[in-house]
Amino acid sequence: MLSDDQFRRKAFEEVTKHKELVEQDSYRLHYHIMPPVGLLNDPNGFIQWNGTYHLFYQWMPFKTGHGAKFWGHYSSEDLVNWKHEEVALTPSEWYEKNGCYSGSAIEHEGNMYVFYTGNVKDDNGDRESYQCLAISEDGIQFEKKGPVVELPTEYTAHFRDPKVWKQDERYFMVVGAQTTELKGAVALLRSNDLVDWTHVGILTGGGSGELKNFGYMFECPDLFRLDDKEVLIFSPQGLEAEGMKYQNVYQAGYVIGTFNPSNGTYDHGEFEELDRGFDFYAPQTTEDHLGRRLLFAWMSVPDQDEQDHPTIGHQWLHNMTIPRELKLIDGKVFQVPVQELKDLRAGIAIEHEVEMQHESLQLEGVSGKAVELILENIVVSDGWFDLTIGGAARVTYSKKQNTITLERQSYVDGVVEKRQCYLENLHSLHLFIDTSSLEIFVNGGEETFTARFYPAPNNETIRFGASKMSRFKLKKWELTKVF
Ligand code: FRU
Repeated sequence: MLSDDQFRRKAFEEVTKHKELVEQDSYRLHYHIMPPVGLLNDPNGFIQWNGTYHLFYQWMPFKTGHGAKFWGHYSSEDLVNWKHEEVALTPSEWYEKNGCYSGSAIEHEGNMYVFYTGNVKDDNGDRESYQCLAISEDGIQFEKKGPVVELPTEYTAHFRDPKVWKQDERYFMVVGAQTTELKGAVALLRSNDLVDWTHVGILTGGGSGELKNFGYMFECPDLFRLDDKEVLIFSPQGLEAEGMKYQNVYQAGYVIGTFNPSNGTYDHGEFEELDRGFDFYAPQTTEDHLGRRLLFAWMSVPDQDEQDHPTIGHQWLHNMTIPRELKLIDGKVFQVPVQELKDLRAGIAIEHEVEMQHESLQLEGVSGKAVELILENIVVSDGWFDLTIGGAARVTYSKKQNTITLERQSYVDGVVEKRQCYLENLHSLHLFIDTSSLEIFVNGGEETFTARFYPAPNNETIRFGASKMSRFKLKKWELTKVF
């Protein structure tokens, strides 16, 4: 096994060796967080600490596959420009030898405390899971304190991704879990000092309550207050597809309810998916100095044709979503791009007022690889209205069916595949296009579609189509390259 220093040196060598190859990729992203080399998955330890935003991430620097993960680290003053920092955690100790898995950060007495899962697999493939603590005085170098939570008897070793928060002068931790009956669950733990933890019980899932028999594993739970409710975000595995729902290999979504910190109970409603697209998983949130609840998600899904992405030829794989702000509106979680992203806009907007009928058109100045588009005051009189990006992704609103659909050309076999949801009425679309990634915010964040897509590198077209009279106001900006 390598020491922490050896791991760091090796990762640095890997970054240097492949820098050019990664940079030459025409699908390399311009303003999305991506790994300098290798594979990136979950956002970890998202926090604003001493005024600076820190986003750690699951990182495999040595290959474009999963394995013994590091915690990579980006920091930012403004959520737009990011600096790649020194590696935060490497899997150098016995209790994490197969990966410093996902976790969270919290401020305590001026220091940054991070909690993460030490993943251990023995020669027979049997798993052990330790919830570990590491402390930093400067937000860069971490001192590992080792395991602080042992596996409670109610769960299998699929017990990971601690998220910690403070409430009523006490600390709470939720952990993604699988019960010994092989049901997905969220475990709740409590502590007075962040070091001694007591298992309170199953917060939700397992064999009872609203989420009984809801898949075989819940990953990456995150419980937080939004207005006067507590929202629990998590990523369940093992759900069957149901109509338009649960189409991806695994899901990511939320329930809304009331958490009682004195007895650890949580009454909540039904599970709702957070995103309707192809690539969205393991979201994590934090609250910043403006009181905003901010979210990043991994723009992929585990085991979902990960090895077929064309970026693998350039020695990198996956990225984060753009940072989003969460809002609770009429009992639903809305996601909107953080307003700081306006700083990405290069130059003034190109604007159009369009009324179209039975036609397909391209608009003067409306094309590009890294582009923001806002369509407002949309009126679709009847039939359908659509938008095709780079010839490889198409958004269609059907007034007839009350649906909105994202289609893309599959990067696996070239065949068109789709994701969709019901939508009463379409009034606005906000799109962030970034070479091979696409994020669509519908009606001010009521629905979002997140997806990777791979247009032919020279295809920067954006086309609009409608079957009957459609009207909209459009603004378009070129966006700056910050990565
Ligand atoms: C989710 C996940 C987590 C785990 C991490 C390992 O994508 O499987 O449950 O901690 O990835 O990289």
